[in-house]
Amino acid sequence: MSVRRLAEKQLPSFAFTADNLEWAKAQIAKYPPGRQQSAVIPLLWRAQDQSGGWLPQKAIEAVAELLGMAKIRVLEVATFYTMFNLAPVGRFHVQFCGTTPCLLRGADELKKVLHRAIGHENEVTADGTFSWVEVECLGACVNAPMVQINADYYEDLTAESLTRILIDLAAGKMPKPGPQIDRQNSAPVGGPNTLTDPAIYRKTTPSQEAAMPPPGTDSTGPQRN
Ligand code: FES
Repeated sequence: MSVRRLAEKQLPSFAFTADNLEWAKAQIAKYPPGRQQSAVIPLLWRAQDQSGGWLPQKAIEAVAELLGMAKIRVLEVATFYTMFNLAPVGRFHVQFCGTTPCLLRGADELKKVLHRAIGHENEVTADGTFSWVEVECLGACVNAPMVQINADYYEDLTAESLTRILIDLAAGKMPKPGPQIDRQNSAPVGGPNTLTDPAIYRKTTPSQEAAMPPPGTDSTGPQRN
């Protein structure tokens, strides 16, 4: 887990754009009187988006002012959640999961790739393309190891598949998010391995089938002339 501090180099000011301010006010209005501070996370998220993927101190303060909160309270939220970047990030920001299930499935190898391909954690490549940070569990442990790149999850990774993804992104391609092996979402690898007996899906029991009329006759039996 990385240290969560405001960047040393900060922007001189921040103000929501007119559109974002209107959006922010609509979010705030969703909450009952006295609970407007509950909008802090969506507002920080929008401020981060407007700032190009990170939260300058002035943006945190602007959110505090809009919500009537103490600046330190908003700073606490911004520094707690790794979804908020406290310093500039690359065009593709990789959140690398370093929690136990991912580690047990080979996350260490992914970390080596990130070091090799991008550089030090929390640093942006010279061309501004990549940055990476280690975070806690991202809730996709069943597809471990995994990383999040911008808004997408890349799962069931190996050093090779992560390297390929980074190369593709750098080349302007959009690699397919999700599992990087032959697997449907988080279904078992290799296809279903439980509840596979077709008999359990029969709508009738064998005794009900025995009592049914033979095919070609209806329920009232053969027609008489
Ligand atoms: S431990 Fe990596 S996603 Fe949960």
